[in-house]
Amino acid sequence: MRTPLIAGNWKMFKTVAETVAFVTDLRDLVKATASVDVVVAPPFTAVHAAANAARQTKIGVAAQDLYWEKEGAFTGEVSPAMVKEAGAAYAIVGHSERRRLFGESDAIVNRKALAAIGAGLTPIVCIGETLEERERGEMLAVLDRQIKDGLDQLSADQVGALVVAYEPVWAIGTGRTATSAQAGEAHAHIRKRLRQWFGGDAADRCRILYGGSVKPDNIRELIAEEDVDGALVGGASLDVRSFADLVTRSGRPAV
Ligand code: PGA
Repeated sequence: MRTPLIAGNWKMFKTVAETVAFVTDLRDLVKATASVDVVVAPPFTAVHAAANAARQTKIGVAAQDLYWEKEGAFTGEVSPAMVKEAGAAYAIVGHSERRRLFGESDAIVNRKALAAIGAGLTPIVCIGETLEERERGEMLAVLDRQIKDGLDQLSADQVGALVVAYEPVWAIGTGRTATSAQAGEAHAHIRKRLRQWFGGDAADRCRILYGGSVKPDNIRELIAEEDVDGALVGGASLDVRSFADLVTRSGRPAV
């Protein structure tokens, strides 16, 4: 019922020229795959170019972050309406690198998610425990807090329409993927909480992506889990062939 979504988080990689070349190649490589939503998240500087190159294709563009204010004296920040006008349809919020390196709290993630929705963007809200939290047995409590506080004040409809990315921090960029059983367990827990807090319809509609060292050779196993609706991919999204492989392995051929 939920269309799989494969999203590439490029982080601080790719210039405008590299972005245009990537999206141009990607268009052809994923043309024949039906029923998978495809999203790329370039740096802010390349959002507009990516959106232009993706025009009239099924490739969507995401911003990697945004600020919650509409405009003002906030040097270095970019507003939701600005990325929307540049052509983004999605915005990643609360990525673990933002939380760890830039001090983003759940309250900040919440403001960003609300602001993204207010501008007509689909937030991709990232959550996930660190290795220490997992080893202390706190994984589920951490996920609960991140969901509860990160999605505070959102309506059931808004939660149903957004994307959650479960990214165990210990699996990001480490080559150490969660097993499909570990991902399945976390995703089932997240969906259970969404059902409790936002109702069955929101929980059934909300797409929950797995992120953390996803590669073409492990995507099939991960996506076979009932509650894994796709992937948020860092490293393996930078090479267009590897990213296109992830898309084709998540869908079926177009008829
Ligand atoms: P990775 O990154 O695929 O390189 O582990 C995932 C992410 O940070 O979203």
